[in-house]
Amino acid sequence: MKMLIKNIRQLVQVRDVAPERLSGPEMKILPVIENAWLAIEDGIIADYGSMNDWPGISDWRDLEVVDADGRIVLPAWIDSHTHLVYAGSREGEFVDRINGLSYEDIAARGGGILNSSKRLAETGEEELYESAMQRLMQLQNMGTGAVEIKSGYGLTLETELKILRVIRRLKSTTDLTIKSTFLGAHAFPLAYKENKQGYIDHLINEMLPAVAAEKLADYCDVFCERNYFSEEQTITILEAAKKHGMIPKVHANQLSRSGGVQAGVKVGAVSVDHLEYVDQEEIAALRGSKTMATLLPGAQWFLSLPHPPARRMIDSGLAVAIASDYNPGSSPSGNMALMLSMACVQYNMTPEEAINAATINAAYAMGISSESGSISPGKIANLIITEKIPGYAFIPYAFGMNVNAAVMIKGKIVSGTIGK
Ligand code: NIG
Ligand code: FE
Repeated sequence: MKMLIKNIRQLVQVRDVAPERLSGPEMKILPVIENAWLAIEDGIIADYGSMNDWPGISDWRDLEVVDADGRIVLPAWIDSHTHLVYAGSREGEFVDRINGLSYEDIAARGGGILNSSKRLAETGEEELYESAMQRLMQLQNMGTGAVEIKSGYGLTLETELKILRVIRRLKSTTDLTIKSTFLGAHAFPLAYKENKQGYIDHLINEMLPAVAAEKLADYCDVFCERNYFSEEQTITILEAAKKHGMIPKVHANQLSRSGGVQAGVKVGAVSVDHLEYVDQEEIAALRGSKTMATLLPGAQWFLSLPHPPARRMIDSGLAVAIASDYNPGSSPSGNMALMLSMACVQYNMTPEEAINAATINAAYAMGISSESGSISPGKIANLIITEKIPGYAFIPYAFGMNVNAAVMIKGKIVSGTIGK
C-alpha cells in the first residue's frame, strides 16, 4: 500500500533525524514544510518534500494519490498519561466540588479513587473492556495515535490484574500504540487503612511479581502525595518494580510539594507527572536528569489547582510534555487539542512548545521515540489531517473545537476523509 498526499499547506514536525526529546529553547522550534507532499508505504512514513520539488516516482502503479487541498498534516497526538480503564463516572463529586468540597475532602470521606475502586470491583472484565474501547475510539477520533493506560482503580491483586488484562486486550485489538502501567500504589485500599506498610509489602511481594509474571506492565507508577504514598515509600516501590523490568513513573506534586519529583529523579523515572507544586528545588532536580516533566492541564484546570510553572521550567532548560490524564475524577476528558489550548492560554506555552510537548516529548515519556512523535522516515504514519485552517497555531487557538478532517493510524484513515 503506497499513498502520496499532495498539496499539504503545512507539513508539521518534520525531522529527517528526530531528536529523542526537546529541552528548553529547543521546544520553541517546530520544523514545517510549507506546500508539501508526503509519501507513505505500508503504514510507514517513506518520504516528504516541497511541492516545488516533486518526488521522482518511477512506478505509479498501486499508488493512491490524495489531494490535501491546502489542509495541514501533523503527527497524531501522543497521550502519555491516562487512566481510561474505569467503571462508572463521578459527576456527583464534580457537583460536590462546585458546592465547596475539595478533591482531598472528597477522598477523605471515602470518595475519589476509592469510589472508582468500589465500582470497578463490581464490574466484569468484558464490560470494562467495552467501555474502555469506546473511550479509546473517541480519543482516536480526536487525533490521538498512542496512549499510555494505567491500572490503579483495582487496589487488590485480582482487580489490578483485571484492569491490566483489559489493557493487554486493547493493545491487541486496535492499531493504536498502547503502553500499560501498573499503578497499584494509587491509594491505600480500605482494607489496609490501619496497616499501610502491610499494603506496601503486599504490593511488592505479591502484586508486582504477579503482574510481571504475566508481562502485563511496561511501567510502574506511584501517587506520591500527602495521605497517599510518601517520597520514601515511592522510592521503595519503584526500586522493587525496576527489579521486575518495569520502568518507573511518578504522580508527583499535584496537591503539595510531596517529594515526588526528587523520588522520580532518584529512581530514574522516565517521567514525573502533574507538577502543580514545583519550586526551584524540583526544577534543579530535573535539570540534567533523564526524567520528562509531564504537565496535565486537564486535571489542573478541572480541580482548580495552581498552574505548574511551565514557563519557568522551560526557561530553565527542562523538557516538558503534555498529557490528558483522562480519568473519571480529575480529568474526564482525553481531548489532547484542548490540553494544548490550556497549556498555551494558562501556562504561556507557545503553540510550537505545546505541539512539541504533545508529540516528541510525549513520545519520550511513553518510550516510543523511535517510532512516533514526528514526521520522519521510518516512523509510523499516525497522522492528523486538519480542516482547511490558516496554520498550525489555529489548533490550540480554536479551543474546544474539532479541526480534524481525518485521522490516520498506521497509514489507514480511521476517521473522517481527506482530499477530494
Ligand atoms: O492523575 N492524582 C491521582 N490520580 C488521578 C486521579 C484519580 C481520580 O481522582 O480518580 C490523577 O489526577
Ligand atoms: Fe493520573
